[in-house]
Amino acid sequence: MNVHGKHYRTIWLQPGHERVVEIIDQRALPHRFVVEQIDTVEKMAAAILEMHVRGAGLIGASAGYGMYLAALASVRSRNFDARLIEAATLLKSTRPTAVNLAWAVERQLAAIARGSTAREKIAIARETAILIADEDAAACRAIGERGLPLIRAISKRKAGKPVNVLTHCNAGWLAFVDHGSATAPIYAAHDAGIPVHVWVDETRPRSQGAKLTAWELGQHGVPHTLIADNTGGHLMQHGMVDLCIVGTDRTTRTGDVANKIGTYLKALAARDNRVPFYVALPSSSFDWKMRDGLREIPIEERGSEEVKFADGLLVGPGGKTGRHAEVLVAPPASPAANYGFDVTPARLVTALITERGRCRANERAILALFPEHRLAQPRNRT
Ligand code: MRU
Repeated sequence: MNVHGKHYRTIWLQPGHERVVEIIDQRALPHRFVVEQIDTVEKMAAAILEMHVRGAGLIGASAGYGMYLAALASVRSRNFDARLIEAATLLKSTRPTAVNLAWAVERQLAAIARGSTAREKIAIARETAILIADEDAAACRAIGERGLPLIRAISKRKAGKPVNVLTHCNAGWLAFVDHGSATAPIYAAHDAGIPVHVWVDETRPRSQGAKLTAWELGQHGVPHTLIADNTGGHLMQHGMVDLCIVGTDRTTRTGDVANKIGTYLKALAARDNRVPFYVALPSSSFDWKMRDGLREIPIEERGSEEVKFADGLLVGPGGKTGRHAEVLVAPPASPAANYGFDVTPARLVTALITERGRCRANERAILALFPEHRLAQPRNRT
């Protein structure tokens, strides 16, 4: 997507120096656009953990490149394969909810195992990292094409008045390699000349909506309005939302959807107000081994300081913005809980939008689109 008129992906190999991976450090957005160089798997793991990169697809792509960096470094070790396994364990330990992380690491391990020499293994790791990133971008582009007819149909019904989409968190191009999942149909509609307007949930505590979604929609010229997290229900009661589109960090084979905390409440409000609630995802975000999202999907818990503090630019007299600062919002002694994700049961999801098309959120419909996963063995429930 475009940043100040220049096309960027969220992750790439440094041109002319392919032992270095470059990322957009998302902690600096929306106020500064910072490109960071990553040259070890340890640094990549830290970048995922501390959320320089975040969002399911991008976490997967970062893990793919992290394994390539690990392969480069493992040449110096006597036991190449053991070092790679250590790197895989390190990467997988960073964030638990987005399934793309483990998916990308396992894919790299399987691919690299096909090489016989260290040199061959490094070449395979590089190719696979690039492939994971390219496939992510292509899947998101296809999600845009598959979701566009939904917006077009509503636009026709509304005789060209803007279609109001509500989204939560950032499932935009910043959360993937390009295009985004939830935003892909929105960008496709906007680019096709269909008037769209997006209600952007601010998404406390880390404010991915306010900091990232609002910024990227603005860069692309898509009309949008930032709202406090609890506003969606009110808007839906007053007919001000035509459809919701959100992303997901992990969706079970039965269609239960884990997404940023607060998504479930939006789905409930949508159901109560007969607003269609769509979940857009590339197939890399399905967990083919899980059936029961509520019981099985691991929910990340992060530090309480994210809830108790807010951050942004200080504003001086006359609205002049100054340096970045963190402020304590809550009483210092109050404990805070910080659950990163929640699970929306499949019954509240109108449909899934994938790169292969749309389907109902149930096992039969999902497997009809992805028949190659019919035989994946669901884990036994205890
Ligand atoms: O904690 P994050 O920022 O990595 O959370 C991921 C998200 O942005 C959302 O949950 C998103 O809607 C799904 S990821 C495409």
